[in-house]
Amino acid sequence: MARPVIVTGAAGFIGMHVAERLLNRGEAVVGVDVFNAYYDPRLKEARAARLEGRDGFRMVRLDIAEHEAMRALVADSGADRVVHLAAQAGVRYSIDNPFAYERSNLAGHLSILEACRHAGIEHLVYASSSSVYGDRPLDGQGFREDDPTVSPVSLYAATKRSCELLSQSYARLYGFPQSGLRFFTVYGPWGRPDMAYYSFTRRIVRGEPIEVYGEGRMARDFTYIDDIVDGVLGVLDHPPAEGRTRSTTSATASRSA
Ligand SMILES: NC(=O)c1ccc[n+]([C@@H]2O[C@H](COP(=O)([O-])OP(=O)(O)OC[C@H]3O[C@@H](n4cnc5c(N)ncnc54)[C@H](O)[C@@H]3O)[C@@H](O)[C@H]2O)c1
Repeated sequence: MARPVIVTGAAGFIGMHVAERLLNRGEAVVGVDVFNAYYDPRLKEARAARLEGRDGFRMVRLDIAEHEAMRALVADSGADRVVHLAAQAGVRYSIDNPFAYERSNLAGHLSILEACRHAGIEHLVYASSSSVYGDRPLDGQGFREDDPTVSPVSLYAATKRSCELLSQSYARLYGFPQSGLRFFTVYGPWGRPDMAYYSFTRRIVRGEPIEVYGEGRMARDFTYIDDIVDGVLGVLDHPPAEGRTRSTTSATASRSA
């Protein structure tokens, strides 16, 4: 059997779907998640339960920022690839909980990089975010990977951009291949209850008015979860040359799968 793939954030929305698809194609998967209470942990437990009954899957309950434990896990698992999706998401949550972003996104990403380089991981695919592009007027031109990413409008965006920079430095210093994916808002089954489409639906079902910010004039790209998973696996299977990183928007990632 091929060596396993480590999927961090495997009890999360995207992580569960990525792990499921890897299992479907016969890969062994080691999931890592801390099951935090950012949103109802029962949803995370239910996602994990879907995976835990399957051959080739094992879940490790661990904070990725625990760098010594993380390093031991990556080394001992025999994995050759890592899909790193664990993170503190959300924009408004950072107003009251800024250090959750420091721990999961900054310390967590660095811990993953260290673990990967010591274990000789052949490809690290990690989640970045469309939020790195900042606010931009709609001009119908879409986004490009080389668009400016210097004006984050949230702490979340700043930490995601920082992860990309940490990755670039590690690719230069230690030469292991990495791919960063800038997902645009992802939706689909088993989705996140903190996201607008979820709360809109909940309110509509209850017959309550929905809460709309910004005079209802905001627009946003959404990507269906299956397209994101196609993109993640397509990228995972095609590492960049050693010592290089690449950044890919979710639209591009799903096309390349
Ligand atoms: N869903 C989207 O629309 C979207 C858009 C852009 C980027 N992303 C990124 O994609 C990735 C996955 O997002 P998601 O929507 O599945 O989010 P999610 O919150 O459902 O999943 C993230 C998982 O990571 C776990 N986690 C958080 N901190 C951890 C830590 N320190 N140690 C171990 N586990 C930890 C959480 O418990 C959670 O289960 C994240 O990196 C997120 O920033 C998501």
